Amino acid sequence: MKRDVIIACDFPSAEATYAFLDNFKEEKPFIKIGMELYYAAGPEIVRELRRRGHRIFLDLKLHDIPNTVRKAMKVLSRLDVDMVNVHAAGTIEMMRAALEGLKEGRPDGERPLIIAVTQLTSTSEEALHKQLLICESMNDTIATYARNAREAGLDGVVCSPLEASLVKEACGPEFLAVTPGIRYPDAAKDDQSRITSPARAREIGSDFIVVGRPITAAADPVAAYRRCCADFIGQ
Ligand code: C5P
Repeated sequence: MKRDVIIACDFPSAEATYAFLDNFKEEKPFIKIGMELYYAAGPEIVRELRRRGHRIFLDLKLHDIPNTVRKAMKVLSRLDVDMVNVHAAGTIEMMRAALEGLKEGRPDGERPLIIAVTQLTSTSEEALHKQLLICESMNDTIATYARNAREAGLDGVVCSPLEASLVKEACGPEFLAVTPGIRYPDAAKDDQSRITSPARAREIGSDFIVVGRPITAAADPVAAYRRCCADFIGQ
């Protein structure tokens, strides 16, 4: 899959999501369905958005014992999405189980890409040390979590765009860096802390940027999406 912009559809209902996506007449954006929307609208919204032709990153960030994650991934795999994820903090064994579950769910040999969250882009270095009691630096933690994900057979990680080059150095150029935490310098940071612009994310090596509020809360979401695509993909 080539470099792309993924819109985080963090909406409370199916109706709000359809109303938002109906703005896009010419493009069929790659979209991310996260916890809020999935828990509100269930698997049916995934099926409907597939029917409408969207590629889908189902961002449910699974983190549980390996057996539970394997069985959950088996179910999600059947939804025919393009990308799913887990928390790398769940261990290599859990990530392997997730991958097995995906393969079991699709006997035709197809499966979604599976990536691991290293550290949430909202987590600061201070919170890492003082709240999570991880004494290594943010960069060392992310590089190690990324190597763990690669060892488990995953396709890449979710990380801050600022860490994409670190991930590529640790795991090689083919290992995907999917990066939320995208903001234009002239806009609100919201609750994100390790952020950068689409153009800079491209330079650092992101394969996919995940952009939520800078597009969904924009006065003109289509124009905001096109600006991100132009800066990140270069079209
Ligand atoms: O609105 P905003 O652009 O901040 O949205 C970013 C999206 O990416 C949200 O859906 C958030 O849950 C997700 N995300 C993140 N940091 C991660 C993983 C996912 O911000 N490490």
